[in-house]
Amino acid sequence: MELPPRPTMFDFHGVSMSKYFTDNWENIQTFRARPDDILIATYPKAGTTWVSYILDLLYFGQTCPNRQTSIPLNERVPFLEISIPSLPTGKDLADQLITTPRLIKTHLPVQFVPKSFWDQKSRIVYVARNAKDSAVSYFHFGRMNNAQPDPGQWSTFLQNFMDGKVVFGSWYKHVNEWWEKKQTYSNLHYMFYEDLIEDSGREIDQLCSFLGLSPSVEEKESIVTGVTFDVMKENKMISFSTAQMMNHRVSPFMRKGKVGDWKNHFSVEQNEQFDEDYEKKMKNTDLKLRPNL
Ligand code: A3P
Repeated sequence: MELPPRPTMFDFHGVSMSKYFTDNWENIQTFRARPDDILIATYPKAGTTWVSYILDLLYFGQTCPNRQTSIPLNERVPFLEISIPSLPTGKDLADQLITTPRLIKTHLPVQFVPKSFWDQKSRIVYVARNAKDSAVSYFHFGRMNNAQPDPGQWSTFLQNFMDGKVVFGSWYKHVNEWWEKKQTYSNLHYMFYEDLIEDSGREIDQLCSFLGLSPSVEEKESIVTGVTFDVMKENKMISFSTAQMMNHRVSPFMRKGKVGDWKNHFSVEQNEQFDEDYEKKMKNTDLKLRPNL
């Protein structure tokens, strides 16, 4: 397949977006969610794949073990808004899912989520990751993924990230507006990448209690050991190694999987500017994100 060109960004109802996430807009907005759907919502690079895989194992690890080795994760957990020429759209993949519950992923800011998810009271798992590591991970992802605009140099990308001029818009608005939604929408579980790194077993327990699942001790143990970074990296069905748009030689999708890699990228000056700006943008929220881990 000849790769479609890297997209440019444009303002889409106040959010920076690219055509690969807006071309199918009408169909996305009229998507028919079901009450038992589970939507995994994140700002890009927050651990979407990790949580998608955990949910897939929780629901289907016992009943459909072959699924884990034969179907790429992006088909098991379709990316709702993606629409790249010559590839099936995320919406079509979601419509074709025959297993229940349907697990669907999105990076949409909360105001763009199709209305049917709210009407159907579908459960939503939101994952947030600290801003500095999100920025670093997003930068490397842009370098290796032709579906993203060219990120340019790190300093340029960092400024764009701070200005919300990256695809899916401002990290600050995304995490805060989803957090606000959680205050009024009870079917939303809000979790943090850093907590998963600290204790994935505890976080899986919390997910299970939100979802009303009670895996056996053995099942849970096998999930905890099966979703470590090293195990996931080796699994071709999860690590996007089959995704045509990605060049893992530039930077692997499963890159480092660490908290605090930002320290290897931010200069002292960049860090000071970032902290000052962060303080202003986050001063009115009680959202407990820890930028300096
Ligand atoms: P890094 O680029 O910092 O390594 P997403 O799935 O939302 O695109 O997020 C990708 C990020 O999550 C990448 O971060 C990736 O390495 C990390 N990740 C994926 N699986 C992980 C795991 N099992 N443990 C820790 N980090 C993981």
